[in-house]
Amino acid sequence: MQQSNTTTLSTVTGLMSQIAETGRDTLRGGYTRPVYSHAEIELRQWFIEQAQSRGLSVEQDGNGALWAWWDLPTGDRTDAVVTGSHLDSVPGGGPFDGPLGVASALTALDMLKSRVQERTRALAIVVFPEEEGSRFGVACLGTRMMTGAISLEKALNLRDQDGTTFADVARSNGLDTRLMGPDPTRLAHIGAFVELHVEQGLGLGELDHPVAIGGSILGHGRWRLSVTGQGNHAGTTLMAGRRDPMVAAAQMVVAIRNIAREQPHARATVGRIEPVPGGTNVIASAVNFWLDVRHPDDAITAALIQRIHDTALDLAASEGCELSLNQESLSPTVTFDATLTSRLQGPLTNAPVLDTGAGHDAGVLAAHVPSAMIFVRNPSGISHSPEEYVEDADAEIGAAALADALAGMLN
Ligand code: GLV
Ligand code: MN
Ligand code: MN
Ligand code: MN
Repeated sequence: MQQSNTTTLSTVTGLMSQIAETGRDTLRGGYTRPVYSHAEIELRQWFIEQAQSRGLSVEQDGNGALWAWWDLPTGDRTDAVVTGSHLDSVPGGGPFDGPLGVASALTALDMLKSRVQERTRALAIVVFPEEEGSRFGVACLGTRMMTGAISLEKALNLRDQDGTTFADVARSNGLDTRLMGPDPTRLAHIGAFVELHVEQGLGLGELDHPVAIGGSILGHGRWRLSVTGQGNHAGTTLMAGRRDPMVAAAQMVVAIRNIAREQPHARATVGRIEPVPGGTNVIASAVNFWLDVRHPDDAITAALIQRIHDTALDLAASEGCELSLNQESLSPTVTFDATLTSRLQGPLTNAPVLDTGAGHDAGVLAAHVPSAMIFVRNPSGISHSPEEYVEDADAEIGAAALADALAGMLN
């Protein structure tokens, strides 16, 4: 990573270029930066250095989030204005999902420092851990832990693909598990949270506008399904009488797609599937897969899951297999704080209000503190993929919009 030049104001593009080699995935393309991987730790270190070079005071909270404070002379951190995002990624993700919000926050801070003379509120830039849930399965794990939306026991027992618990990974990264979990004191200090994020669809591209204000986040959940059958030899086992969980799982994937298609506005995705043991000449003994379902009406999400569960049970039985389905997480539809949103409409004149189907830490925090989002145009409309894209000029407009929004909140 290159060193930043601390004597001039940063640009988002300049900051993003400093981290452009970290966690590059040469196999899948894009970036793979799971929480507490070498890449994510390197990015955290980069963030700490960036914050310290700006004179911010950096701390890591009990749950592993980094907080960089632009304090008041009095040191009073009550009713603080907080902005930030995450540095972890999905496997083979794009460069902007998360880091754009962090780089924009640093750039916005530089602008604010040179133009805000008087203020009554401290400002913090935060980096939340495991927003994607790509390592431990539960998205927004940092904010869920802070707010108590997940129990500490459940969180600590989450496992990654290698079977390592979150507790072990947290400990080996210097966290004390006794200090993890709900943090009402820290939460109570947040007066408002604004997260800037790359848009993950084509809304702004179609409106031909560089930035939008977030309206709502689609309710969503994750479920883990496990289909078990009889592992056996691919050559010696006749087709009749097989209990092959891969065949059952394949039918479930198609059924899930068909069920979701019948429900307007529903999205259902199976993006991760793991046959056990996973051999070319082995009939699997089990197939584990993850289901992501989203719909604006939480009751409809519940009904969809019920229908999927019933259908999957029938399909498992018809292949002589068994099925278990467990909910990993469930988040209601979130509408962002109306007062904060309308306050953003002052400085972000003409910015449209856009809803999103993607989850964010701002969505988890919204149940506890006034929260809002700013989206930056992504002309590809693609995200969670290397093709995610932001024009340099739009990135700078986004940071300036964030600075304008925050400036209006510092008093
Ligand atoms: C996270 O980015 C999600 O929406 O799944
Ligand atoms: Mn994100
Ligand atoms: Mn994401
Ligand atoms: Mn997200």
